[in-house]
Amino acid sequence: MPQEMAYVNGNLVELKDAHINALDRGFIYGDGLYEVVAVYNGKLYQMDEHLERFQEGATEMLFENHPTSEELKEIAEELVESSKIKDGIVYLQVTRGVAPRMHSFPENPSPGVFMFVKPFSFPDTDKKFQGVKAILVPDERWNRCHVKSVNLLPNCFYKEQAKRRGAYEAIQVHPEVGVTEGTSCNVFGVKDGVVYTAPLGNRILRGITRCTVVDLAHEKGMTVKEEFMSASQLYRCHEVFLTSTTSQLLPVRQVDRVEYPVSRYQFTFTLQGALQQHIIENL
Ligand code: PDD
Repeated sequence: MPQEMAYVNGNLVELKDAHINALDRGFIYGDGLYEVVAVYNGKLYQMDEHLERFQEGATEMLFENHPTSEELKEIAEELVESSKIKDGIVYLQVTRGVAPRMHSFPENPSPGVFMFVKPFSFPDTDKKFQGVKAILVPDERWNRCHVKSVNLLPNCFYKEQAKRRGAYEAIQVHPEVGVTEGTSCNVFGVKDGVVYTAPLGNRILRGITRCTVVDLAHEKGMTVKEEFMSASQLYRCHEVFLTSTTSQLLPVRQVDRVEYPVSRYQFTFTLQGALQQHIIENL
């Protein structure tokens, strides 16, 4: 029987038995980084890309003594293998570890390493073809949104607003730059045959799926512009879609009161198919 397994600081346990020290800085300050990696057919998808992003975040946040990508990969593979889970996600988190509560960083920290694997239902056919609803919310986050930090309170707050308004996702609009990203996904729009998505930089997470989809769009001969759109430009798009490890590539059928004719989407479905193919070919 597949079971949810966890790795906590050197020990492999069932997820329900995973515990951490209450003084872990991840718990006290949100002083940690994370990744969510898809598992398809018992194999990790794009693990190296996720680990590269994790290491970039660790360097920027001045982490020390944290595990190497090879070590993290080995743990993740062992976890998936021991769980017998075929389709799911691996959640990987590294914090600055346990230390007396003090805002500045501890000297010579022992990072807290926590990972778990659990089954996950990727979007079903209905969601994939009918699309989802989204709302716009103001992006009031900090200026290092490219760091995949466990500080997710703004994202959780916006997602809850979406839920309360009957929507699947909240798309954030920064007052200076425009449409940035969802609470846990990147956002694309298609207008007059051009695919738009926010540029890489400090305003969005460098989504692994986003970058794959941009590459696939180029391969398909599409024109891609990595530019910010305003809210009204997003409203006027012919197609809108979301990308992430867990949502894969989902058409959006409504943003606020604006409806989009998903049944007539072309670019979105071409890219959705190309992403599925990429997954199959890269396991
Ligand atoms: N979130 N933007 C944000 C803010 C995200 O949290 C995520 C992923 C993405 C998409 O990144 P990727 O394609 O690498 O999954 C964009 C994960 C899935 C999560 O928090 O559960």
